[in-house]
Amino acid sequence: MTATPNKKRDLLSLSDLDVSEIQMLFKRAAELKASLKAGHTTRSLEGRTLGMLFEKPSTRTRVSFEVGMYQLGGHALFLSSKEIQLGRGETISDSARVLSRYLDALMIRTFAHENAVTLAKFSSVPVINGLSDHFHPCQILADLFTYQEKRGPLAGRKVAFVGDGNNMAHSWILASSKVGCHLTLACPVNYDPDPRVLSMAQRQQEITGAGGSISLTRNPREAVHGADLVVTDTWISMGQEQEQQRRLRAFHGFQVNQSLMQEAKKDALFMHCLPAHREEEVTSEVLDGEHSVVWDEAENRLHVQKAILEWLISGHF
Ligand code: CP
Ligand code: NVA
Repeated sequence: MTATPNKKRDLLSLSDLDVSEIQMLFKRAAELKASLKAGHTTRSLEGRTLGMLFEKPSTRTRVSFEVGMYQLGGHALFLSSKEIQLGRGETISDSARVLSRYLDALMIRTFAHENAVTLAKFSSVPVINGLSDHFHPCQILADLFTYQEKRGPLAGRKVAFVGDGNNMAHSWILASSKVGCHLTLACPVNYDPDPRVLSMAQRQQEITGAGGSISLTRNPREAVHGADLVVTDTWISMGQEQEQQRRLRAFHGFQVNQSLMQEAKKDALFMHCLPAHREEEVTSEVLDGEHSVVWDEAENRLHVQKAILEWLISGHF
């Protein structure tokens, strides 16, 4: 393990970053993106290793972290919980203490958010949440970066999140209080976001003074009306497969389709963290349509995460 100069930082949710740090990350992500496109190499993490603990499947998170470490001159290890002793009952705290002796940073994709918190508590190296049931900070940072890249600051803009009050909805709630956008969530009965996350955002907003607002509705049209950005996510998150039939019934009427998108501003963007379940939460017409920026959004995971890795591992921006 290589020593980091400052006290270690973790990225478990957007609450771990202040507004100026988010902008520094975006500045660096833009530099790294431009430099990669120009064919230059940046070996800022030479000799450094990231461990990636996965308790759930992944395409984007796994590949973008692994490629990101490689491009920065470092190395990433894929650690499936099924294939390490964690899956046989070794505790997260013991695993954290051991893995910290080999690695420069850890990424975890897990179920209960508490697992990521415990890993961070017992790890002496930075821990990144690569998705928990509660938050997906790397995704929301890529989403905010993508909006800023295409349309400028999100402050004062209207964002509609249509669908499940899940980890992505929670991430947008925290984002709203950081960047000062007006977020309306349209969720069916029994699928509202966790009120504790709404309280977190309220406390955060008092600190940042970022402005913006968060409101809830049962009516997707009301949420999307006049929106600058429309966001959705799967109705059946990883680990909820048993609830499929019940969820498909509950989310009827919450699909993002062309008719719903017509409520948004003419130049509105559409985002989805992916994987999409075409013709469930979103139609192919929207996903592949003129408003959609989902492929750039997915690509930006790589550039933003490289900035996150540099910051957390080297200890400065
Ligand atoms: N958006 C996202 O995190 O995708 P994966 O599940 O493929 O990593
Ligand atoms: N809400 C989804 C996000 C996938 C990236 C899930 O948790 O499965």
